[in-house]
Amino acid sequence: MNPLLEVSGLAKHFPVRRGAVLARRVGAVKAVDGIGFTVARGESLGLVGESGCGKSTTGRLITRLLEPTAGAIRYDGQDIAHAGRRELMPLRGRIQMVFQDPYSSLNPRHTVGEIIAAPMASLGIGSRTGRRDRVLELLETVGLDAAHVHRYPHEFSGGQRQRIGVARALATEPELIVADEPVSALDVSIQAQIVNMLRRLQRELGIAMLFIAHDLAVVRQVSHRVAVMYLGRIVEIADRDTLYERSQHPYTQALLSAVPEVDAGIGIGREPGRGAGRERIRLVGDVPSPLNPPSGCRFRTRCPKAAEVCAAQEPPLVPIGGADGHLTACHFPALLPV
Ligand SMILES: Nc1ncnc2c1ncn2[C@@H]1O[C@H](COP(=O)(O)OP(=O)(O)OP(=O)(O)O)[C@@H](O)[C@H]1O
Ligand code: SF4
Ligand SMILES: [Mg+2]
Repeated sequence: MNPLLEVSGLAKHFPVRRGAVLARRVGAVKAVDGIGFTVARGESLGLVGESGCGKSTTGRLITRLLEPTAGAIRYDGQDIAHAGRRELMPLRGRIQMVFQDPYSSLNPRHTVGEIIAAPMASLGIGSRTGRRDRVLELLETVGLDAAHVHRYPHEFSGGQRQRIGVARALATEPELIVADEPVSALDVSIQAQIVNMLRRLQRELGIAMLFIAHDLAVVRQVSHRVAVMYLGRIVEIADRDTLYERSQHPYTQALLSAVPEVDAGIGIGREPGRGAGRERIRLVGDVPSPLNPPSGCRFRTRCPKAAEVCAAQEPPLVPIGGADGHLTACHFPALLPV
């Protein structure tokens, strides 16, 4: 069966202009620079990487809040990379987004009921009473009291507001949810509750999800597969257990080595015993600018294994190891010694 979402050669370059009157294009921020991945129906794909590597831009391209510079975004077989408003119309509702900031993403002047019903109303789904019943049902689905339907966002805590955001995303029965750092603005004590709810809903309702986060421990909780991004490129992608236990890319290994071993208190973190004894790999230096990425392998300026060939040739993202669908972009891939 075809994947629900199939992305190939996707790029977004933001032009940089200089000059007050006749602004001249002097370069481009290569925020996303040729990435490809698929998401099957009902599958959850995690997208991780440091700040600025292009995760949100990827999410905004897929939901077509942005138009790509190059590449294809095939949704259910149809390339929507350059689709106009009219062509995107039938897809609204089928793809929804959950945002990082539950404070700014909810209109403070609307009641919770109005907020959750808005996507249904704008798509003409159901009657007024039908929508009201659905809102009450959705409130229950996300663990909120249906009696609070007439309250305003400011009357809720951060975690509750994110539940409202999730209810709104679920209202149109989407097939795909793009969740961009849905818990990173929340207190750590609340994060696990929201992550668990998202995982439960994703599995129970069979919704496909692109789950964006910089926190590998959080991604592990919700993803069937994980893609690791660095400076606009995907450097490694694999099923969850393969990525966390047998990653072969030095960047993934460095990210993993920084994940706390155990954090039983909130249920996020590496399981006890797993990865024990793994040495922490310190990443030195800053992420280079996406305006002018390094030649060859983009990670070479920070990679402990960098060699001459890494500056000369960009390593392609190719199958590696024994696991199906495990791809790595490195000239010297290897398991970490245990
Ligand atoms: N509208 C824009 N115009 C110019 N540059 C942009 C724009 N949006 C994003 N960028 C740049 O593109 C790069 C990738 O940004 P993006 O927001 O996708 O990263 P991210 O991985 O989501 O980071 P974070 O973890 O901080 O959310 C950054 O260098 C950012 O400054
Ligand atoms: S290609 Fe070279 S620089 Fe890039 S990750 Fe592999 S070893 Fe490091
Ligand atoms: Mg972001």
